[in-house]
Amino acid sequence: MNESWSNLHINQQRFQDDFAELCLIGKSGERGLSRTAFSDAHQAARAWFQQKARQAGLEVKVDAAGNHSARLECAKPDAPTLLLGSHLDSVPNGGRYDGALGVLAALEVLRCVKEHRLQLPVHLEAIDFTDEEGFLVSFLGSFAFSGKLTAQDMANPRGDRQLLEHSLQQAGLTEQGVLSAKRDPASLAGYLELHVEQGPLLEKEGVSIGVVTHISGISFYRLSYHGKAGHAGTIDMEVRRDASQGASAFTLAARQIVLEQFRGCFANVGAAHYEPGLFNVIPEKAVISLEFRAAYPQQFQQLREALLQRARQEAERFQLEMEIEYLGQRLPVEMHQTMQDAVQQSAHQLGLSAVPIIARAGHDAQALADICPTGMIFIPSVAGISHSPDEHTHWEDCLNGANVLLQAALRWIVNWDKEEKSY
Ligand code: GLV
Ligand code: MN
Ligand code: MN
Repeated sequence: MNESWSNLHINQQRFQDDFAELCLIGKSGERGLSRTAFSDAHQAARAWFQQKARQAGLEVKVDAAGNHSARLECAKPDAPTLLLGSHLDSVPNGGRYDGALGVLAALEVLRCVKEHRLQLPVHLEAIDFTDEEGFLVSFLGSFAFSGKLTAQDMANPRGDRQLLEHSLQQAGLTEQGVLSAKRDPASLAGYLELHVEQGPLLEKEGVSIGVVTHISGISFYRLSYHGKAGHAGTIDMEVRRDASQGASAFTLAARQIVLEQFRGCFANVGAAHYEPGLFNVIPEKAVISLEFRAAYPQQFQQLREALLQRARQEAERFQLEMEIEYLGQRLPVEMHQTMQDAVQQSAHQLGLSAVPIIARAGHDAQALADICPTGMIFIPSVAGISHSPDEHTHWEDCLNGANVLLQAALRWIVNWDKEEKSY
């Protein structure tokens, strides 16, 4: 690799045109995006990505978990691959930047390296992981890719099981295939992901680039409270066993637990379902979703214990039975120091301010962190808004992020090569 790599920049116009085109696929309302995993819009976005990759003369690949990749092979067939990427799926009525920007920037890096005929000692791959957002399973693609996906994750997903079955079939995938989609870790040099921060910190500090140091852990559960149905107007309030009371009391308590004992952590009860779900019948069943997040392993475990204990206490208090279903977790992870250094130095060389930052949202990088050197680059989110049509990042920040991705990837490769590939 000659020295000219350090002056390379991505093609701004092409990157912007691509972003504008991609935003139209699954557009919802004025600025929003609905591209839930395996929806028609999501499949169309993936087809668009493949078409762009082919037009650029890149190889296209889809694995057994439906992860879509564009590859730029180097001269040595047995060289490992440096992966760059993110996800093209979105939450329903979400924003345009979450995930998509990282995939597009990754594609742009490959095109740029190809056009400048850089001879790299690694293959480059831009990857779009399946179902990062968890409309069906959560991290389906990156967990399968890293060998973490279990049969249980598929059998009892946090989304709709029937929709999962239907989606796999429509996409020409099988459950067995998904569960065997693990990529050999020895074939991976590393993974680097560009993403919008989705929180307020970079904007508040007026900083251009976040060098991600840790990614918070996320765990999810389904909590079911069981009481007894009855006439809403005839059974005394004191004796009724109303499942909604346990669920509601826990929802409020979860917030208090975090605020009083786990500052900096998060808990969310984002879905609720009552049965029979009628105005005049006492609910005999209340099912709620619980998701909680913490940046460090011990805190993550303590938060789990505190929340689940309280969930049981609220059942007792209202004389309810309860069932706790564990649906999965994404462990808190640390980013590889060599990746953090490459991002920090590249930002500096591009004249951009950069600070270390903890990722509060979940990311595919989390699934890769224990199998290869992994890093993440954050750029500011206006007002910290995400998972909303109001999600926005100034275009200048998007360009900065893509250029840092390009430079950090090349810098990391040069250093890795110098260190005799021993990270
Ligand atoms: C992914 O966006 C998550 O953090 O839920
Ligand atoms: Mn994302
Ligand atoms: Mn998201």
